[in-house]
Amino acid sequence: MALKFLPWLIALIVCVHSKSPYKICVPAQFLKDCEIMLEVETKSKEKLECVPARDRMECLYYVQQRQADFVPVDPEDMYVASKIPNQDFVLFQEYRTEDEPDAEFRYQAVIVVHKDLAINSLDELKGLKSCHTGINRNVGYKIPLTMLMKRAVFPKMNDHSISPKENELRALSSFFKQSCIVGTWSPDPKVTSVWKQHYSKLCSLCQHPDKCDYPDDFSGYEGALKCLAHNGGEVAFTKVFYVHKFFGLPLGTIPASPSSEDPTNFRYLCVDGSKVPVGDKRPCSWAARPWQGLLGHNDVLARLSPLREKIKQLSTSGVNAKPGWFINVLGLSEKIHHVADNIPIKPTDYLKKANYTEVIERGHGAPEPVVRMCVTSSVALEKCRAMSIFAFSRDIRPTLDCVLESSDDDCLKSVRDNGSDLAAVDDVRVASASNQYGLHPVFHEVYGPKKVPNFAVAVVKKGSSLKTIDDLKDKRSCHNSYGTFSGLHAPLFYLINKGKITPSPGQCVQKMSEFFSSGSCLPGVDKSENNPSGADVSSLKKQCSSDNTPLRCLQDGRADVAFVSSADLDNYDESEYELLCLNTEAGGRDKLSNYQTCNIIVAPSRTWLSAKTSQSDVSIAHTPLSLAELLDKRNDLFNIYGEFFKNNNVLFTNGATSLASTLNFDFNKFKTVHDVISNCGIA
Ligand SMILES: *[C@@H]1O[C@H](CO)[C@@H](O)[C@H](O)[C@H]1NC(C)=O
Ligand SMILES: *[C@@H]1O[C@H](CO)[C@@H](O)[C@H](O)[C@H]1NC(C)=O
Repeated sequence: MALKFLPWLIALIVCVHSKSPYKICVPAQFLKDCEIMLEVETKSKEKLECVPARDRMECLYYVQQRQADFVPVDPEDMYVASKIPNQDFVLFQEYRTEDEPDAEFRYQAVIVVHKDLAINSLDELKGLKSCHTGINRNVGYKIPLTMLMKRAVFPKMNDHSISPKENELRALSSFFKQSCIVGTWSPDPKVTSVWKQHYSKLCSLCQHPDKCDYPDDFSGYEGALKCLAHNGGEVAFTKVFYVHKFFGLPLGTIPASPSSEDPTNFRYLCVDGSKVPVGDKRPCSWAARPWQGLLGHNDVLARLSPLREKIKQLSTSGVNAKPGWFINVLGLSEKIHHVADNIPIKPTDYLKKANYTEVIERGHGAPEPVVRMCVTSSVALEKCRAMSIFAFSRDIRPTLDCVLESSDDDCLKSVRDNGSDLAAVDDVRVASASNQYGLHPVFHEVYGPKKVPNFAVAVVKKGSSLKTIDDLKDKRSCHNSYGTFSGLHAPLFYLINKGKITPSPGQCVQKMSEFFSSGSCLPGVDKSENNPSGADVSSLKKQCSSDNTPLRCLQDGRADVAFVSSADLDNYDESEYELLCLNTEAGGRDKLSNYQTCNIIVAPSRTWLSAKTSQSDVSIAHTPLSLAELLDKRNDLFNIYGEFFKNNNVLFTNGATSLASTLNFDFNKFKTVHDVISNCGIA
């Protein structure tokens, strides 16, 4: 009887075995969402498996290496993918909107003009009043620039004495008579405000020319058309979808709607200078933005249909609730969730048919500026190159170039000698390295969820009576290691600055131990390189034990105060410890979380230095800062902080959470610390 089922059973086993799951790659931070997705019931019994990666960049690498089968991507990621050596990627499904399920592109960039505008070629756009969606946006900014810069009448943008972004603004402001281009022009707010004054013509056609920022009635896709129809604009750069919406014309599955605007008064301007009625079935466009979609390796094609079916069913099942996996794992969204099968296509061909490759590769005219980042290891070189192609794909200029040297000092020399533009130094060396090589800081790391520098702080037990530095005299102290800013430089600087000890070469550490005369723990103070003269430093070891961390020291009651960094405070219990506000005249104590206002002094971060060259700091810092700003909101795309292929502190320290311009930062503080400490003979 049982034998009767045996063939079935065998068939079932074979079948299960042949059906290995499809592996979807997911940024590790969304692994949980992905696992929830695996539980979703669909008609299809195909199995998926979640492969966690650092971020989308690593996912591309995993797919290329066959560790995963596919990953959802933006057109920009397709560009990055196309540059990976030995890749055989194919785009096999597109994510479209319910409004336009049959459209070839997500949107098409068009130029709209008044029907009687007397022009016959794009060259004659010169001197007109122009309406745009906003700075750095596709159809209102990047695409028009890409197309206009090909024309001889458009001003050159290759002046290297100003940044690429400023070149663009200057060219636009001299080409057009007046414009409205709202938004954040530079990642540095000061620079944005200077530019908005200097190139005020680019704001004069806005509703609020003084602000020139969102929200503005004449910005955005529809705003650009309003600017054209009602604010004296002569040409608008927008996309087809909103032209239809503005004029109440039908499109895709959307029916016509009432509109007070009259489409017969307007025309599309084609690249060849001809005009086509607005609402025409074949609008003439400059370029288009392709849909997002799913990118897999070539082997996926052999068993494509079941996977496509599974994805469609998942999309349908998640469309109402839009759970985390819908957005974070599959990359679908509120608007874009119609999953369409396309003829599998290579990413390069997919971008080319939309003219989107040239939009991505948009330059500023030869010689293209680059900013050269100096690195000191092959893994850092790899990361720098990955950052370069990623930033390039997302329209961040100048292009990042990477120079490999063998040490931090060689990098500093390379910057001094114009072999590269940027080199990094760790905290305490910022001031000395700047002095030694004649460099200056341009941007630095910031840390924690607040994205601020670290601070040197003094931690005491809650409820202690200590308030000021004088209360600490003859008490016991524990410190972060010798050589750290928080453990050594900050307390020394403070004691000297307050006149509690008098600096003299080779004597400062000794004098600090006399101040904390009941004994301290300063790990590493007795190492021969830190104490070449072999001075008696026993009192600076007196409170040490097998666990030398300052926290442990406080817990064990071996110290009255701990000199640590705000980065260490995560380990301290807010109900047991407080900060001593040595930075204020009155002293006092405050909660651990208030380290920004209650501390000893701000600590120097890992900082990138440059030399004064023909390039301005604004130009040199623009690429790293713009990249950091983009990734602030989207570190699932590329997590440039934290581990990189299992290596720590590659280019940036693992604890960094963003980058900030030093233009707004008082670096003289560190010079002062450096100058004071140098009286001690400590570098
Ligand atoms: C790409 O550019 C060509 C020539 O400039 C143009 O005719 C075509 O319509 C563009 N394609 C798209 C999708 O906009
Ligand atoms: C620095 O080097 C670059 C690249 O070789 C060169 O274009 C530039 O003119 C140099 N700058 C100076 C100030 O020599």
